[in-house]
Amino acid sequence: MKSFENDIKEILLTKEDIQGLVKKLAREVEDYYRDSGKELVFIGILKGCIIFLSDLVREVDLPLSMDFMAVSSYGMGKRESTGVVKILKDLDHDIADKDVLIVEDIVDSGLTLSYLIDLMKRRGANSIKICSLLSKPSNRKKVVDIDFLGVEIPNEFIVGYGLDYSEKYRNLPYIATMKEEAYQ
Ligand code: IMP
Ligand code: MG
Repeated sequence: MKSFENDIKEILLTKEDIQGLVKKLAREVEDYYRDSGKELVFIGILKGCIIFLSDLVREVDLPLSMDFMAVSSYGMGKRESTGVVKILKDLDHDIADKDVLIVEDIVDSGLTLSYLIDLMKRRGANSIKICSLLSKPSNRKKVVDIDFLGVEIPNEFIVGYGLDYSEKYRNLPYIATMKEEAYQ
């Protein structure tokens, strides 16, 4: 079996870069929620969030719970959001009156998040904030305020640290672009 490393063009963020961003975000989130009297729930958007969320929660020194949603806006083998958001798995618990922090790997077109924010507003959350490791601001189709952002990146397709191409490359410990010949 060939290593995924053969398909990588350029590393944009190393393991150490990412670790630094996670720590920075954890401090910001702690400062923001420390004095809130409400229940805090981190909502991970599957599957891209899994690695980032699992690192982030271990850095945040606050009582919190986790819940997950799975949505699809990409088709298999696609590199762009289709704009149609389908809920594949809904939350397990009620979010009414809770402080909701949506945890995303990346905000690209903003279509997925703007849909989810509307949904959670209708469900009566006390507050809804966004924490995203990455943002590609030049590709926005819907405006979204990212309350806690790791770093902005150029409009290039990337993989690793939870981010996939056709369900692969999520386990790379860094974030990188792919060689053109690696796409099928
Ligand atoms: P958006 O709806 O276009 O903002 O994108 C939502 C989702 O698309 C993100 O949560 C990611 O899972 C995925 N995505 C966006 N850009 C990339 C990328 O460069 N690589 C892999 N997945 C991406
Ligand atoms: Mg995602």
